[in-house]
This record gives sequence, C-alpha cells and structure tokens, in this order.
Amino acid sequence: MITKRWSVDNSVDKEDSYSQFSQAADLLKNNEVVAFPTETVYGLGGNAENDEAVRKIFEAKGRPSDNPLIIHIADKGQLDAFVTEIPQNAQALMDRFWPGPLTLIFNLKEGVLSHYATADLSTVAVRMPDHPVALALLNKTGLPIAAPSANRSGRPSPTTADHVWEDLNGRIAGLVDGGPTGVGVESTVVDCTGDVPVILRPGGITREQLEEAVGEIRVDPALADESQAPKSPGMKYRHYAPDAPLYLVEGTKEDIQHFVEDKKKEGLSVGVLTTSENLEFYRADFIYACGQRDKLETVASSLYEALRYFNTTDADIIFCEMFPGEGVGHAIMNRLMKAAGHRVISR
Ligand code: TXA
Ligand code: MG
Repeated sequence: MITKRWSVDNSVDKEDSYSQFSQAADLLKNNEVVAFPTETVYGLGGNAENDEAVRKIFEAKGRPSDNPLIIHIADKGQLDAFVTEIPQNAQALMDRFWPGPLTLIFNLKEGVLSHYATADLSTVAVRMPDHPVALALLNKTGLPIAAPSANRSGRPSPTTADHVWEDLNGRIAGLVDGGPTGVGVESTVVDCTGDVPVILRPGGITREQLEEAVGEIRVDPALADESQAPKSPGMKYRHYAPDAPLYLVEGTKEDIQHFVEDKKKEGLSVGVLTTSENLEFYRADFIYACGQRDKLETVASSLYEALRYFNTTDADIIFCEMFPGEGVGHAIMNRLMKAAGHRVISR
C-alpha cells in the first residue's frame, strides 16, 4: 500500500491545509486508516463505527485484539450517541480538561461503535485531543474516530511524523504531518464509572490536577503491583522497550557510571539515558539527554525520542536515571518501568 503523506501547517484555516485535510478526512470516511498528530503522541485513526476500518488499525499496528481503542471526538455532543450516561465526576473532568490529554471511561451504549474498537467490553474510552490538526480532522469527518498511538505494537509511541513513517509506512493509507507533538506521553486514562474516579494509566494530566478538580482520586493498584491484572487491558503488555535491555538505576550518577564501567570491561557497548544537567558527567558509548530534570514536562516530551534513539545505535545495554513519581513524573516512571521490563538495580 502507498502511504500518502501531507505536511500541514498548524494554522489549520489556511487554504492549502484545507485541501489536505479534505483528502485525509475523505480517506477516514472511506474507512481507511490515517495517522495524525495530537498534543500527546501521533494517533492512528479509523472510523470507530465501522468494523473494517477498526480491523485495519489493529492489523497495521499488529495490536492484540483484546486491547480496546480510545475514541476521539471534537464535540462533547457526540458522546450521547454511544455512552449510556455522563456521571457527574466525568462531566466535571470534561469541563475542566477537554480538549486535553485526559481519556475518560464511560459505560457503553450498544449498537453504534464497532465492537472491535471496544474489544467487546461494556465500557468505552473517550477523549477530545487538544491539537488544531486533530480537531480540524475530527470536525471534517464528523465521526467518532478510534485512534491508538500510531506505532507498531510494543514500540515506543511516536512523537514525530518520522516515527510514524518508520513504523507504518506502507501499512496505512495516510499520514498527516503536523510537526512534533508537545506533551510526549499519552493521555491519562481515568475510569469514571464508579463513585470515585480511578487512574488506570498515568499521563499528561496529573493526579494532582485531577484531585484539584474533583477531590478524591484513586490509582489502579495494579499500576504499583505487577502481580495484579490491570483494569486497562493495554497496561499488561510489554511496551516502549528499546532493542537493547534497559536498566533503571536507583542511586547516584556515580553509581550509574560504575555500572557503565563494569559493562565496558566486559566488552559491551553501553548507553546512558540522562538529562541535560548530567550530560557532561558520563563516560559511555552513547549518551542521550532527555530534557531537563528540573522541568519534568521536557523529559516527558522527549522520552520516546530518547528510547527510539538507542535503536539507531549499537548499544548492547542501556542504563537510565530514575525520576520522582509525582506530577508528570508518575507517567514518566510508568513508561520507563515498562521499557525496562521492571528491571531496577542499585549498588
Ligand atoms: O494520548 C493518547 O491517549 C493517545 C493519542 C493518540 O490519543 N492514544 C493512546 O491510545 O495512547 P492507545 O491505544 O495506545 O492506549 C489506549 C489505552 C490502552 O491502555 C487501553 O487498554 C486503554 O486505553 N483502554 C481503552 N479502552 C478502555 C476501556 N474501556 N477500559 C479500560 N481501558 C481502556
Ligand atoms: Mg499505545
């Protein structure tokens, strides 16, 4: 399949952008799949009402069919068609954070969405992305669009159009290039079907922000305990892992350098994932500065680029610094733990 690629300006009203959006929207309306930028990561969109379109998404990604997709909308009014009710907490969170990196779980109203999109669950995940290109495209189709991250299953999520191209060129009908995404980690997934909202996946909206908006928030215990089955089916899969094994190091930069030297003595090629503050300190074969430690948003924003970088090197093993688990650090540590297969070492 030839993948069409458009480069669009984020000022979506321009004449030339308009015709590109029309082409991308027409493909979506014809039940083809098209990747597009959101404020978190690139998504791979397809008509959520159509079985064939949704199956194409799973096929292009190589995604297990028991992992449901997030439905993207441009207008809150679209919800009524496929959710049974909008609980008070959900309404408050939507009012406060949509459009934005927050996905809410509702009880599903049967008969509208493809059952492949919801993986036959009785609930559905929905979000309204805060990106002019995504919103323009969603508006043009007028459809609920199912969109997982636009990477091959298991790979780090894509934060640039080139990442999508690397993974999916030839496997999808189109790619709308709107430049690098901003937040860099996926949306926070919050289950709003019970009395107290529960975080199923930490992401761009922090626990602290959610608490400020609606009071008590719980976190799915499975996030902290590997032995429990997560409520979000996708959280059980190995994900984000670079080709070389990644180890999180609990300790100082001197400890990390010590591990590096040990491995170099064994003849291995060693990578270090750090931040700009410590870039000059390490002596290793490949060093990547992922943002600035004192501005965790910058770490989130370049995290997947960093993980993909090591796949372009000959590193045999990668050591990585740890981050505080508060604020957006919660999402960063969640993704790094998965990328590391939960391998945490200390001296
Ligand atoms: O930021 C994002 O959320 C990006 C952009 C493209 O919008 N999308 C994204 O989609 O990360 P994906 O498919 O990579 O992750 C969706 C997550 C998975 O962990 C999935 O299991 C969970 O949402 N999910 C979907 N429907 C669910 C449901 N009904 N109940 C619980 N978890 C659900
Ligand atoms: Mg994903």
